Amino acid sequence: MKPKVLVRHSLPQAALDELRANFEETEDPEQAEGVVGFLSTSLDLGRMPRLRAVATVSAGYDNYDLPELTRRRIALMNCADALTETTADLAFALMLASARRVAELDALVRSGGWKPGAGSELYGLDVHGKTLGVVGYGRIGSAIARRGKGFGMEVLYTSRRPKETPGRVVLDELLRRSDFVCLAVPLTPDTDRLIGSRELGLMKPTGILVNIARGRVVDESALVEALRRQTIRAAGLDVYEEEPLSPTSPLIGMPNVVLLPHIGSATQETRDAMALASVRNLISCLVHGEPRNVVNSEALE
Ligand code: DGY
Repeated sequence: MKPKVLVRHSLPQAALDELRANFEETEDPEQAEGVVGFLSTSLDLGRMPRLRAVATVSAGYDNYDLPELTRRRIALMNCADALTETTADLAFALMLASARRVAELDALVRSGGWKPGAGSELYGLDVHGKTLGVVGYGRIGSAIARRGKGFGMEVLYTSRRPKETPGRVVLDELLRRSDFVCLAVPLTPDTDRLIGSRELGLMKPTGILVNIARGRVVDESALVEALRRQTIRAAGLDVYEEEPLSPTSPLIGMPNVVLLPHIGSATQETRDAMALASVRNLISCLVHGEPRNVVNSEALE
């Protein structure tokens, strides 16, 4: 008999085909041995006595109750490898858009506000040749750094572990020296509100903050204050403390902020690859008994 799985995320055809070749789909949580989930998935584990594995179509998994999954010996598997380059592309898009004021000037053209000539009121800031500070030098952080080097940037980074790549500094030094501060750390108790008013105060007045990590890595009201007082120049955000961002958020009225709806990995190719990788994670665990990409390996002990 095929193991039963509950699918909590829409899957493209190729992923569905592999899923159906290996599993029986169920809508009944009590029957489910596996789950395919996403960042918005919440599971009532008390009602899932047969659950052994969860495959999330995401790199991040802060929405899951990891200690409880581990306690119940349920493996949680992510698909971080599939989205590195795409998320790094988006970080760069936010850097370029914030520095060159792409969204603000697009709105100006659309509103008929473009006057002949581009006066200094339309000027942005250079990206090439500047200093890029990457906070968190994991898969995505190092992919952002590679792009920075392609733009002739000096790259600084923070990392818990020493690396061979030069440029590792402590956070305060990174904040002081960087023209662009790009956040690429997972949300953990250590990174919760890592960037608050003190840290924003260390940034250059021309500094630009880019967040493609998680909203809670930044104290959002401190960021609003820094942007309002122009103690930093701009921000490019893909993630927020509360998602979706409230229409009453002060960020919405700020011209010096580029706002995206948490789309770091959202390209057709990458989301398809993530879905397939997640189904294969579930197969590795529930069909072959060889789990991979498990983020709570203690659950398997
Ligand atoms: C992830 O997979 O964690 C990303 O945030 C999705 O864009």
